[in-house]
Amino acid sequence: MTEQPDAIAILAEAKPSPGEKYYPPFKVTPELTEKAKEYIAMYPEGKEQSAVLPLIHLVQEEHGYICPQSVLWIAEMCKSTPIHVQGVVSFYPGIRTRCPGKWHIRVCHTIACALSGGEELLAYICEKIGIDPQAMTDEEPMAVSADGLWSIEAVECLAACGFGPNIMINDTLYSQMDRAKVDELVAEYSKKA
Ligand code: FES
Repeated sequence: MTEQPDAIAILAEAKPSPGEKYYPPFKVTPELTEKAKEYIAMYPEGKEQSAVLPLIHLVQEEHGYICPQSVLWIAEMCKSTPIHVQGVVSFYPGIRTRCPGKWHIRVCHTIACALSGGEELLAYICEKIGIDPQAMTDEEPMAVSADGLWSIEAVECLAACGFGPNIMINDTLYSQMDRAKVDELVAEYSKKA
């Protein structure tokens, strides 16, 4: 049998973020367990591991990201292993291993949006929310503002290619963006803080 990496080694990968103050810490509550069981019950007995991805989404929705403790919990719930869950987490770019800001901005940098001004818009949004664009790297594509209110990342196609440049703030899509619209949105979301 292949040896599994030590779960503690995964726990050691936790990355702090100023955004943590806007999300509840990961906690296994009766409600969370109940919801997880509902997802797991959608799959045949013996296939509990199929619920790993739905449980990842469940935790990310509540907690903002997938912390090492939640990896262990998901593995246990789905009769899987921490390394398998960690593998799923690291495979999908939309799954975060670091807490985002309260308002998480995704800026599409795929060709249609890039050609309609997306690249320039990314730099402008960074300036508006006080984030150094250099902070977005291959290793850490998401950058978080020092106050934790904002985070930003360049993402692939948001499926609205004819209406670029497109961005998303949390789960809301905004199309045909320009500097004036960015100014409006940043002011509007800052008020909601
Ligand atoms: S290229 Fe930006 S939404 Fe498709």
